[in-house]
Amino acid sequence: MNSIPSELAIIGGTGLTRLPTLKIIRREVVHTPYGEPSGPVTHGELFGHQVAFIPRHGAKHNIPPHRVNYRANLWALRHLGIKNIIAVAAVGGISSEMRPCRIAIPDQIIDYTWSRMHTYFDEHLDAVTHIDFSEPYCRALRGRLVGAAQSAGLDALPKGVYAATQGPRLETAAEINRLEKDGCDMVGMTGMPEAALARELDLCYASIAVVANWAAGRGERETISLSEISRNLEQGMNQVKRLLEVVVTRI
Ligand code: HPA
Repeated sequence: MNSIPSELAIIGGTGLTRLPTLKIIRREVVHTPYGEPSGPVTHGELFGHQVAFIPRHGAKHNIPPHRVNYRANLWALRHLGIKNIIAVAAVGGISSEMRPCRIAIPDQIIDYTWSRMHTYFDEHLDAVTHIDFSEPYCRALRGRLVGAAQSAGLDALPKGVYAATQGPRLETAAEINRLEKDGCDMVGMTGMPEAALARELDLCYASIAVVANWAAGRGERETISLSEISRNLEQGMNQVKRLLEVVVTRI
């Protein structure tokens, strides 16, 4: 996983259902053995480079995290010849550096999700298969993201542990205390099984996390509102767009 082949896709999360800087060339509907992806894959040009884009929650942002067909999304991208995936994901900030609007490039994951279709190695197998997942993100692509963020002068955290929770509800304050004790820096609902499925398909997958809010029981507010989340994401996404601009021109 040390060299980066060129074909790149971006999976957009909450706050990034559309990539305004993408010059759209065509949309492609892909049917997969695992069902329908979140929508057609958009092929386009981003700062002069060919990129594919798929909004994880659908173009209308109406697919909740536990209902995203992660297997279909990743299978469709690989079917189209994609080798690299940058997944953008909104998170709640747990550790003190993870303040709202900041971006981070996570380097580890703890999975708290349940009952999601989380593997391709499920039935009709020739042999039981276990992928290595010691380092859940593609080292080469993560390195590119960290380097690009630095050279663009962005205030991005170069690492952090991502807690993947089931959702769609946000967490209790006690759950966040437990995640912190476990060593988690940020919490989101979509990082798994996406990262593991990408590894099962041998795709080079890394993520940009955007802090939408202080996680439950952190920060000054007693409750977390959707309007607060949207406002912070809008600001954070400007950094994501800048980071994508720098990174695509280097891949
Ligand atoms: N928890 C889980 N997922 C999230 C959060 C959160 O606080 N904010 C944005 N996605």
